[in-house]
Amino acid sequence: MCGIIGYCGPKPAAPILVEGLRRLEYRGYDSAGICVVENGHLELHKKKGKLAALSSVLPPNVVGNYGIGHTRWATHGEVTDINAHPHIDGAGKIAIAHNGIVENHESLREKLTDDGYVFISETDSEVIVHLIHSLYEGDLEAAIKQAVQLLTGTYGIVAVHADEPNRVVGARNGSPLVLGIGDDEMFLASDVTAIVAHTKQVVYIEDHEVVTITPDDYRTTDLTDRPIDKKIEFISWELAEIEKDGYTHFMQKEILEQASSIKRAMQGRLNKETATGHLGGLNLSSKELLEIERVKIIGAGTSFYAAMVAAYLIESIGRIPCSAELASEVRYRNPVVERNTLYFAVSQSGETADTLYAMRELQRKGARVLGICNAVGATIPRESDGGVYIHSGPEIAVASTKAFTSQLTAFYIFTLIMARMRHMSFEEGSNFIRALEKVPDQVESILARSDKLAELAAKYAHFNNVLFLGRGLNYPVALEGALKLKEVSYIHAEGYSAAEIKHGPIALINEQTPSVFIVTNDSLREKVISNMKEVKARRGPVIALCVEGDTEVMAIADDHFAVPSAHELMYPYLMMVPLQMYAYHTALVLGRDVDQPRNLAKSVTVE
Ligand code: AGP
Repeated sequence: MCGIIGYCGPKPAAPILVEGLRRLEYRGYDSAGICVVENGHLELHKKKGKLAALSSVLPPNVVGNYGIGHTRWATHGEVTDINAHPHIDGAGKIAIAHNGIVENHESLREKLTDDGYVFISETDSEVIVHLIHSLYEGDLEAAIKQAVQLLTGTYGIVAVHADEPNRVVGARNGSPLVLGIGDDEMFLASDVTAIVAHTKQVVYIEDHEVVTITPDDYRTTDLTDRPIDKKIEFISWELAEIEKDGYTHFMQKEILEQASSIKRAMQGRLNKETATGHLGGLNLSSKELLEIERVKIIGAGTSFYAAMVAAYLIESIGRIPCSAELASEVRYRNPVVERNTLYFAVSQSGETADTLYAMRELQRKGARVLGICNAVGATIPRESDGGVYIHSGPEIAVASTKAFTSQLTAFYIFTLIMARMRHMSFEEGSNFIRALEKVPDQVESILARSDKLAELAAKYAHFNNVLFLGRGLNYPVALEGALKLKEVSYIHAEGYSAAEIKHGPIALINEQTPSVFIVTNDSLREKVISNMKEVKARRGPVIALCVEGDTEVMAIADDHFAVPSAHELMYPYLMMVPLQMYAYHTALVLGRDVDQPRNLAKSVTVE
């Protein structure tokens, strides 16, 4: 989604803004722009396309030392230079960059047009700059405070005024905004990746707050101008974590990191002496955990598929009724919040609008919602009633990979805790821990055989449709396998429970539609093998993801990739990792933009 940055300090702002935007590229965008104030006038440059296009039109001698920048992910209006941000007022004094959606932009536009304002873009955001201009009486911060009260919708805004030197103002409602405190320089950004090269001291701006930065100071207030004391927080990760570090793509780096990211997610959370787990952030006593009668998990995209695996585990192993639901659906169906039900909101970014709004709706109804998140300090972990960080480190590629396996880890540990408090014996708990601790090495051994996945990708990359089929715990893995492939390769891929194909999708099977079957040695194995045979009988090519030594499956499939034999509950990890690598290699074969696939955004902050 859109990214914003603001800078105010002693250095020329333009290169800092462009560099910040480069760090925000991962969020997904289709145009970019900056506006720097130079000698009392606005120096505005914006261009559709990638940052290289913007850089090609930037004059080398822009020296102003405060300004704003934006990467736009189009919502209202096509991808054009004019629709790109920043937007400026007719007098060329005020510039704003906006993330979010102004829902009442049409009525505001009509009114401002009646008042003589001329609109040049098709965006909803342009109303903000004219509105600020109409309310401006010599104080940008004051005008912004009045203007945002007239907006319906969401916003993260940064703004400058040509006549107010060394001042950048930001405001937030529903779109993230963070302040970075440097040495005699200050930053505003939609996320910390944009500024971590300059400072690790940050302040998270909350909804309905306004922040004004000058080179050596900042001020945070509410919309009635009441000062708000904010806590300064420290970003713990290193700049190297948001660099490619010698890899060709972030997606490749993040897939390959999984042995260590899974290990990190477990660290200090498994106790062999008591054969159980410990998740400090849950903020629940043993008594409260025992009282839980139902668990409900919400999420979107990959996080939703992790939630589906978790629901299966928590119910079948933890023996607590559990369901996963798309956050986007929960919010609008007036959900019933039941007593003794624990909710989880799972999100890599912690900013996904669908998940955040659903969480707030559940909280309004009295639910206790815990977060399972990766991005430290994001809105979901801050607003949830407790929760667990998965510690994957920054995930930059738009396609989520390492966050999925770490989300699973948090849920596996939660399952262990719940099961051990109920029926699971010490011995079973010990087995579970042993099996979980083996996963990182097993993942490593799979990744060491990535060449075989590259070969499979080369063979099947030119098919236009692919089905992914699995059952039980591996059904959500099939869904996630299909999502990965379609996201990065643009091949049409669908995931189904293998049992479902006979209810419809089998009509798609012919020589041109390969099926990827996930087959383990669980109780459903024979049924999945029958489904494979049904596909073969209709000349559908079959790729099997199976367990080492499974000669029966290998003999049926046209091609296979075998994973190490493991505890039956651990296959979601071992099957997912090769599917991620398969998607990655397919995207390479097809020459796709692996890290920033078309139309996609990393953090989806609009509904
Ligand atoms: C994952 O590959 C996707 N890009 C997307 O489905 C993502 O998982 C979804 O938007 C939810 O994001 P979150 O985990 O940050 O909430």
